[in-house]
Amino acid sequence: MAKQEDIFKNVVSHAKEYGFIFPSSEVYDGLSAVYDYAQNGVELKKNIREYWWKSMVQMNENIVGLDAAILMHPTTWKASGHVDAFNDPLIDNKDSKKRYRADVLVEDHAEKIHQKAQKEIDKAKARFGDAFNEQEFVTTNARVIEYLAKEKEIRERLGRSLGNGDLADVKALIEELEIADPETGSKNWTEVKQFNLMFGTKLGASAENAMDLYLRPETAQGIFVNFLNVQKSGRMKVPFGIAQTGKAFRNEIVARQFIFRMREFEQMEMQFFVRPGEEMKSYEYWKETRLKWHLSLGLGKENYRFHDHEKLAHYANAAADIEFNFPFGFKELEGIHSRTDFDLKAHEEYSGRKLQYFDPELNENYVPYVVETSVGLDRMFLAVFATSLKEETLEDGSTRTVLKLPAVLAPTKAAVLPLVKKDGLPEVSRKIIEDLKWDFNVAYDEKDAVGRRYRRQDALGTPFCITVDHQTLEDETVTIRHRDTMKQDRVKITELRGIIENEVSMKNWLMKM
Ligand code: GAP
Repeated sequence: MAKQEDIFKNVVSHAKEYGFIFPSSEVYDGLSAVYDYAQNGVELKKNIREYWWKSMVQMNENIVGLDAAILMHPTTWKASGHVDAFNDPLIDNKDSKKRYRADVLVEDHAEKIHQKAQKEIDKAKARFGDAFNEQEFVTTNARVIEYLAKEKEIRERLGRSLGNGDLADVKALIEELEIADPETGSKNWTEVKQFNLMFGTKLGASAENAMDLYLRPETAQGIFVNFLNVQKSGRMKVPFGIAQTGKAFRNEIVARQFIFRMREFEQMEMQFFVRPGEEMKSYEYWKETRLKWHLSLGLGKENYRFHDHEKLAHYANAAADIEFNFPFGFKELEGIHSRTDFDLKAHEEYSGRKLQYFDPELNENYVPYVVETSVGLDRMFLAVFATSLKEETLEDGSTRTVLKLPAVLAPTKAAVLPLVKKDGLPEVSRKIIEDLKWDFNVAYDEKDAVGRRYRRQDALGTPFCITVDHQTLEDETVTIRHRDTMKQDRVKITELRGIIENEVSMKNWLMKM
C-alpha cells in the first residue's frame, strides 16, 4: 500500500480513537460522507472558527458578522444560478459501476504529471545542494519542461471544455489520456453528464401545500440578500465586508475522502463589497491576506500553493484556490473569488428591490462589486490535524505518537497530573485547575504512570503537562512539560498562567500574519 494511503488511514483512525471525529449515526453503520465532531474535535473546530473570526471581524473595523438562516426563500437559488448551474460533471464506469467526477479524474491525472516534474526538481535539488537554481532548472531541463507543458495543456483543455459545456470533449480527454477507474483499472466509461448538487427539502404541514426549499449550498447568499440591511443598520461605507460561518449542504457525487468532501459541511465566508472597478485590487489583497492567515499557523509554507482557475464559475471574473498539501496531494482548501456584481444584480432582478449603495464621495448609486473569501472549516480541520499528526522515534529508540497542533488551536491547553493519587497531590492539582480553567481548557488525569499520561496528552495535542509532585507541597513549584520538545521546566504555580498564555494566545499567533 502506498505510504500516502497509510498516513491518511492513520489520520482517520486517530481522529476516531482520540475523540475528534466519528462517522455520523455509526450505530446504523454511518451515513456516507457525513461526520460528527466529538469531544476534542468540537474544541479544535471551534478554535479554528474563532481564529478565523477574530482575524476577519475583530481585527477589521470595516468587516462585520452575520448569522443568516440555512433555509432561504427558494427564489434565492434561482437568482444565484444554483438551480440551473450548480452542477458537477459525472461519469460512471460501466464495469465497476463506480461513479466519479469527470473533472476530478482529469485533474488528478494532471497532478500526477505535476508530481513527476516535482520529483525531477527534488532530485536535482538534492544533487546540487545550495548551488541549485530552481528557476533556471525548471526553464531548461527538457523533461521538466515537457511534464509542465503537458500538465498545462490538460488543465487548459479541461477548463475550456467545462466552460463551454462541452461534456463530449471531457469524455474524449479522459479517453485520450487513457484514464482508468482508480479502483479497478477499467477504462470502460459512460458519457459525461451534469449532476445538480442542491439538496431539496419541503416546508409546510401538508403535502399539497408544501413549499419546495433547498438547504443552502453556500453561506454566501445569506450575506448577499442581507447586504442592504447590514449596510444601512450598520452605517457601513463601501468598501466593507460581511463575514459568516455556518453549515452548507451539497449532494456530492463522490465523497470518499473523509471530511475533505462532505455532504454537510461548514464554511467560513466573507463578502467584501467594493466600488466597481476596484475589485481586482481587492482580489489581490485578499489572496495575499488569506495566504498570510494560513501561514501564521506554521504548518509549512511548502504545503500551500495558489491555483488560478481556468474555468470560472458563472458568477466570477477572476478566481483562485489556495491549495493545501493534504495526505492525498494538493487540493483546494480555500477559494478567493471576484464575483463581480452578479449576485446583487440577480437578487435585484428577481426580487424587484434595489440593492444599491449611495456613495457619498462619488455622489452616485451603484451595485457594489464583490470579492469573496471562502474556506471550508472541515478542510481546515483536516489540513491542521493531518499535518500535525507525527510518529516520532525518540533517543532511546522508543516511538511516540504526537499531535503537534498549533498550540492556539489545541482542544486542551494543559493537563494537570498529580504524580501519585495520594499525599494531597490530587487536591493541589484540582486547585491549580480551579484557577486556570477561567482562562483555558484544562484537563485532569491521575490514571496510569505519568509517562503514559504524557503520551496520552501528546496524542491529544495538549501543549503542556503540569506535574504536581511532593516538592510542590514544599515550595509551590511544579514541572511543566512542553509537548513538542518534551522539555521539562520547574516553575512556580503562579507563573503557569503567563507561560501558557504566551504560547496559546490568539493575539500572539495572529500577529505573525
Ligand atoms: N461561496 C463560494 C463557494 O461556496 P466553493 O469553492 O464551492 O465556493 C468554498 O466552496 C470552500 O468550501 C472550498 O474551498 C472548500 O474548502 C469548502 N467546501 C466546498 N465543498 C465542500 C464539501 N463538499 N465538503 C467540505 N468542504 C467543502
